Amino acid sequence: MKVIVGTEKQISELIAEEFIKQVNDKENSVLGLATGTSPLGVYANLVEANKEGRVSFKKVVTFNLDEYIGLEGTHNQSYRYFMNDNLFDHIDIDKKNTHVLKGVGDYLAYGAQYDAEIASFGGIDLQILGIGSDGHIAFNEPGTSFDSLTHVAELAESTIVDNSRLFNDISEVPTKAMTMGLKSIMNAKKIVLIAIGNNKAKAIAALINGPKTEKVPASILQDHPDVTIYCDEAAYSLVK
Ligand code: GLP
Repeated sequence: MKVIVGTEKQISELIAEEFIKQVNDKENSVLGLATGTSPLGVYANLVEANKEGRVSFKKVVTFNLDEYIGLEGTHNQSYRYFMNDNLFDHIDIDKKNTHVLKGVGDYLAYGAQYDAEIASFGGIDLQILGIGSDGHIAFNEPGTSFDSLTHVAELAESTIVDNSRLFNDISEVPTKAMTMGLKSIMNAKKIVLIAIGNNKAKAIAALINGPKTEKVPASILQDHPDVTIYCDEAAYSLVK
């Protein structure tokens, strides 16, 4: 596991360069994408690089980690909306190549074939992750099996509180989500994780220093052969 500490601007640029290199080396790369505020700088850099002609996403295929159950893709807090708004609408990607788990309709059936769908494209070449303050990745909360594939997840109370900042009221935050599992994530060939701010310090210390345990879902990354943790000073502050 590699760890890189820098400012939010620096780590966002470094991760964006990893994505640009990946896509320039393999134009039909399969990218694993995440939502949350942490990757926003990375996506802004990718939009800029695409506009400058430094990278093209025309042949790229993407898979997102998760989606709230109960929100239509047009809801402004759905992860489909987030991805369109912050990335897909601003780059030359073919929307048909972008996969986000569904939160309504046939969401269970769609989720049940998600891992097979990823495998049919040859697997994820490069996956970006954020991390929850409780150590969750995607919506795999503490206690989730390390063997999990895409499934329905119950959000932890702390996650509902953390994510309520983006909703009008905490009562509007969905309590369930569809999420890629921990095994689904570990199947990615290369993983980068971004963590920004004090609120992530405990989770990052547990990920880097702590034992591998299902109590800290992100700690499964200790077993991945190609993972880099990018943190700002605040998120890194409790690492020994
Ligand atoms: C949500 C998402 C995660 C994300 C986490 C942290 O719970 N399901 O994928 O990593 O929030 O979000 P943020 O980057 O906004 O702190």
